[in-house]
Amino acid sequence: MNGSSLTKIFRGFRLATMAPAGTVLARDSEGNGLFEQPDNPYGAIFDAVMSVTDGKIDWILPKSLAEQAIGVRNVATIEGRGRWLTPGLIDCHTHLVYGGNRAEEWEQRVRGVSYEEIARSGGGILSTVRATRESSEEELVQGALTRLAPLAREGITTIEIKSGYGLDLESELKMLRAARRLAAEVDVHVETTLLAAHAVPPEYSGRSDDYIDFVVNEIVPAAAPWCSAVDAFCERIAFSVPQTERVFDAAQAAGLPIKVHAEQLSRTGISIKAAERGALSVDHIEYLSAADCEVLAKHGTVATLLPGAYYYLREQQPPPVAALRALHVPMAVSTDANPGSSPIFSLLTAANMACVLFGLTPEEALNGITRNAARALGLLKSKGTLEPGKQADLADWNVNSPAEIVYALGQNPCVASYRGGRQRE
Ligand code: NIG
Ligand code: FE
Repeated sequence: MNGSSLTKIFRGFRLATMAPAGTVLARDSEGNGLFEQPDNPYGAIFDAVMSVTDGKIDWILPKSLAEQAIGVRNVATIEGRGRWLTPGLIDCHTHLVYGGNRAEEWEQRVRGVSYEEIARSGGGILSTVRATRESSEEELVQGALTRLAPLAREGITTIEIKSGYGLDLESELKMLRAARRLAAEVDVHVETTLLAAHAVPPEYSGRSDDYIDFVVNEIVPAAAPWCSAVDAFCERIAFSVPQTERVFDAAQAAGLPIKVHAEQLSRTGISIKAAERGALSVDHIEYLSAADCEVLAKHGTVATLLPGAYYYLREQQPPPVAALRALHVPMAVSTDANPGSSPIFSLLTAANMACVLFGLTPEEALNGITRNAARALGLLKSKGTLEPGKQADLADWNVNSPAEIVYALGQNPCVASYRGGRQRE
């Protein structure tokens, strides 16, 4: 157990580690397991002591066992006074960087015009493409900051941000650069995902195969240093299964993991192809079939649920949560924050909607915005649960139970958050 001056002790908290039962939370000097995660809902540990050194968790012990370990050392201590501490929240699917907004289009949708009709008449994603192309990188950063600030206040310490409103090489790179700049502005870990195959841009209208040629030959190789995954929108209003598979080929040739907007408005079958190729996640998936769920289970693919889009588009078919649950498919939950189908800049709201609209338990929802969200980004080794060796990204909640974190709308019980053990502003 490290006694360096960079050690911090968190004590008096109730921890929701979100770690699976049996996870070793502390070892003795010989490396033998000293304390394991008990089989409690939310990975709860009551009256815990957690040691953090150089930004990483060293050990977690119940107070009775911890006294010896920390008794003699003069280290900084953070007192929980009974509050709950969870892993920092992770929003694993967002389109946070964009120009303009689509309030007028939303007004039309409320009056009964459908998302697909608007998309087919050149609005929807393409109207945001126009506004994004016209915006400077600096304007994109400033706009995204207004949306990132409320997320950070909810204890989000990691966020994924997609491109996909540029659809030409320079504008896609501009979006990815803007997304990466946000990390310095807000003290959040940002993962960037290339979504050049989001819609057919106007200059390729009627020539979607030619646009896919451009994506695979030019955009993916040029954007590879600026992103950590590649996504595509496979749908009748976007790209076909064979076109999406070409994007997967290019991503995988560039050494990048894949994910996909799948089965949102209809079943295309792309989810099983993605799972078979080792995709990190398949997202939306309202129209996923029971047989598809088995393929996800077999490959350990994360099913990312986006109830904000379901709500805003007034979809009628919820994702097959019961089948996913029965097959132990890891379910993540995210905001899908974007100007069209999900202008929601609150991950707690998305988690609440996952419970009320999709029937997740609060524990599943909290898992969906911590552990399984980390898995959807390929970050589970370093984030998503509280366990030794992981980054001390933390959220501190003034609640009496973990369910209370996602229980109410319009309330934010997060009182502090930490990145690498350091409290954020
Ligand atoms: O995740 N489904 C496709 N893409 C986004 C919507 C983007 C938009 O409407 O601007 C989504 O819902
Ligand atoms: Fe999306």
